[in-house]
Amino acid sequence: MKVRRAEIVATAAAKAGFPTAGPAEVAFLGRSNVGKSSLLNKLVNRKSLARTSSTPGKTRLVHWYRVEGEKHVLCLVDLPGYGFARVPKRERESWQKLVESYLDGREELRAAVLLQDLRRDWSEDEALLVEWLAERDVPVIVALTKADKLKPMRRAARVRELVAQVAPVPVERVITTSAEKGLGIPDLWRAIDTLALQR
Ligand code: GTP
Ligand code: MG
Repeated sequence: MKVRRAEIVATAAAKAGFPTAGPAEVAFLGRSNVGKSSLLNKLVNRKSLARTSSTPGKTRLVHWYRVEGEKHVLCLVDLPGYGFARVPKRERESWQKLVESYLDGREELRAAVLLQDLRRDWSEDEALLVEWLAERDVPVIVALTKADKLKPMRRAARVRELVAQVAPVPVERVITTSAEKGLGIPDLWRAIDTLALQR
């Protein structure tokens, strides 16, 4: 999509605060610090619409960003990350509850972008999340993040390894990105638009 306008339209700490009857939504999921908020900013071409931080656990609520293109409108939904050990257990559990309460039965949800740091291996957490989404008929795009951190040869090798690891997500839905350098942004938009607008 060619973004004409992007703005935050809602923030919620619990299901009661979730907006209703809005446009199609695309959720950003993944481990804390993987780069969800950064990639969202890059997609809408705004430096700091979503708050980012080098300290994991920056995003603690659900945030809805309304994005207007030339022909259609979408909401990109930024969610708290999972799996960061230094965040107290009680807090991690409450974020997980929040994320699940969003994903479970969210009518507007058309697709999920699951982010994975290109330098790390796919884990049980990601595999379970893909399974969970498949059970709910939510299609998944995998965005491999922080590609700028690897040299081209190493990068290509890691992409091949991860494409194998993320199966059953098909290779055409695995997109290598860098929010830092803008790598993969048109491809990611194409994948998002295809899924978000077809249902
Ligand atoms: P939580 O909100 O804690 O779940 O994290 P998040 O997944 O939203 O990560 P965020 O976007 O806040 O980014 C985490 C850190 O990674 C920040 O220091 C970013 O600057 C850095 N980062 C994100 N994307 C990239 C990238 O493509 N390249 C590089 N080099 N750094 C990145
Ligand atoms: Mg974030």
